[in-house]
Amino acid sequence: MKRRIRKAVFPVAGLGTRFLPATKTVPKEMLPIVDRPLIQYAVDEAIEAGCDTLIFVTNRYKHAVADYFDKAYELEDKLARAGKLEQLEMVRNPLPRNVRAVFVTQAEALGLGHAVLCARPVVGDEPFAVMLPDDLIWNRGDGALKQMADAAEASGSSMIAVQDVPRDQTGSYGIVATDDFTGREGRIRGMVEKPSPDDAPSTLAVVGRYVLDPRIFDLLESTDAGAGGEIQLTDAIARLLQDHPVSAYRFRGTRFDCGTHIGLIEATIRYALDHEKLSEAAATMMQSALDELGVREID
Ligand code: G1P
Repeated sequence: MKRRIRKAVFPVAGLGTRFLPATKTVPKEMLPIVDRPLIQYAVDEAIEAGCDTLIFVTNRYKHAVADYFDKAYELEDKLARAGKLEQLEMVRNPLPRNVRAVFVTQAEALGLGHAVLCARPVVGDEPFAVMLPDDLIWNRGDGALKQMADAAEASGSSMIAVQDVPRDQTGSYGIVATDDFTGREGRIRGMVEKPSPDDAPSTLAVVGRYVLDPRIFDLLESTDAGAGGEIQLTDAIARLLQDHPVSAYRFRGTRFDCGTHIGLIEATIRYALDHEKLSEAAATMMQSALDELGVREID
């Protein structure tokens, strides 16, 4: 595979029912963490990793995602006339000049594997990334996808991001069985989608960052519905690894599960406390909220 990834697929056609009623009109990928929507964090991470083609797999309810990366003439005009140059800069160039956004429709919600397959005509025959924007990864150094893209380019393996989870949570994740790790990588020998704690081959869970060989598409074409009645990316990868090296990659960084309420709150707190303009006010506000509620002091 030893080619550098240039394309990243963002499956964003999910209904986001966990966040109803907000997601009745706002796609979950547009929910903000402090000052930017979730999708922006994932896009920035893909661009940092070297991607110049961003493929959004979307549906008829997700116009807000396309609008976000489009030009907003009226808004730009108003901001320019009002001399609000900082805000103008924020909305004027949603993507760097060399980066393009492509939108692909997933007409039916048949699962993550099916969503990735919808991107096939744009990805073609080259290695590519899949990024699930729900999984937000906070990092001071290289982003998680850049770490994985570097490792994939060096070794020629496909790479799947993983982290340890408590055993009682295996039913929420793809779970991998690996050889011993060398550094951050361990060759995957088996992979199963959302096993019960008793059936899980380990507690190493898949996090939403993948670098995949394009052979995955043929396998997805012939993958039947699996866990939850959906066509699972995990099931196709479990077949890919039988004749192509696939590694689990323990990334540097902290992952927030923004597909859950508590994960979204946790991410908001962390990013606020790390924000160059807001950190002090956020810390003071959190301390007084804790004091008022009589909860233990922040160390
Ligand atoms: C998806 C994948 C799962 C992975 C998870 C990471 O599940 O199917 O293998 O562990 O993302 O967030 P979902 O959370 O969409 O149900």
